[in-house]
Amino acid sequence: MSASSAVNPFVPGHGQLPPCLAGRGTEQSALNALLAYLKAGKGAPRNLVLSGPRGNGKTALLRWFQHQLEAAKQKVDVVWLTPAEIPSLDELATLLAPPSRFNSLRPAALSFAIGIGRLGWKLGNRPSSLTRLLAVRCQRRPLVLLLDEAHTLREDVGQVLLNASQSVSAEAPFMLVMAGTPGLQTHLNGMSATFWSRGQKLGIGLLDEVASAQALAQPLAEQKPPISFDSGALRQVVGESQCYPYFLQLWGAALWVMAHESGATRIDEALVAKAKPRFDMERSAYYDDRREELKRLGLLRTAAQLAGAFDARRQLREHELDAAIAAALPADASAQNVDEHRDGLAELGYVWNSPNEEDLWRPGIPSLMAYIAAHAG
Ligand SMILES: Nc1ncnc2c1ncn2[C@@H]1O[C@H](COP(=O)(O)OP(=O)(O)OP(=O)(O)O)[C@@H](O)[C@H]1O
Ligand SMILES: [Mg+2]
Repeated sequence: MSASSAVNPFVPGHGQLPPCLAGRGTEQSALNALLAYLKAGKGAPRNLVLSGPRGNGKTALLRWFQHQLEAAKQKVDVVWLTPAEIPSLDELATLLAPPSRFNSLRPAALSFAIGIGRLGWKLGNRPSSLTRLLAVRCQRRPLVLLLDEAHTLREDVGQVLLNASQSVSAEAPFMLVMAGTPGLQTHLNGMSATFWSRGQKLGIGLLDEVASAQALAQPLAEQKPPISFDSGALRQVVGESQCYPYFLQLWGAALWVMAHESGATRIDEALVAKAKPRFDMERSAYYDDRREELKRLGLLRTAAQLAGAFDARRQLREHELDAAIAAALPADASAQNVDEHRDGLAELGYVWNSPNEEDLWRPGIPSLMAYIAAHAG
């Protein structure tokens, strides 16, 4: 089999899962536990919010849940949305309860004023109408709404959606799962006083070593013919990937190409060495994107200085982080400036505090700090 005719399993198509979704058993169970309520005809008792730095697998988890619901032909509908698709309340209502399918939910069937246009619902900008429409729709058929990139949700649409979600879940089989970067908490708090605190939060961070090894080895073992690893080579690649899902996929893709080019069915340290330049190139491109992002937002200097504070320590308490940010800013910087820089860096996942450990901050993306420190100029 030549590399040009075979498909690299580590480069899945748009909307596809990684070839092996490893190490997310806890998160998968949490999703299924809430789904059980819908299957029993009830609303989920909590909304679920997944947050974490870029590249850790929030979208992959949502996709897994979506595929699972679709594949099993469960008696539950699933709708996947990103904020860009919902510029308005009417758009949201139309996507969640397409009039073509829920035609019988016309005004007569509902005890409130609602219109239906050629393309979709016309709610006349009444949030309560969305709540009623959604509740009636979910009573017909349970609905799971998956909202990715939720940190970019428009405030006006978000406010209505968050409130509707809480009300609808109380009376009909509905469940909302959101995923977004660490800026999500602040973003949602600006829209609803209670949504974040009442929801179930899951931090999506690095995998452990066993899961990382599985994420690499299993898809290769499933190739025809199977490709296996020397244990030393696998350890090395797991170490170099730093258990970061995005880097695991880059490594897998590079190793697959090298194995196919050379016709190898076993990956040893020599093959890893051959794949490394390809991985390094992709990783640098990724780091450069992050660097540009920091620069655009005026955070590059602070980010570079912060790298020094994390250098000796793997994690900082919030007051230590703030002190390090203050030290990186001009002497006349205010406490508000410190907050802004911390929130900005957290939003990008440069630093991250898992919702499970509120006071502890860690680097969000492995080795990015070292790269920024070396390339800040
Ligand atoms: N549990 C996992 N096991 C193996 N690979 C994974 C896992 N989770 C994610 N990946 C892979 O890691 C890469 C990053 O995942 P994903 O795009 O889901 O991250 P994300 O958190 O949504 O990032 P962003 O914030 O940039 O949207 C993808 O190539 C994905 O297929
Ligand atoms: Mg994503």
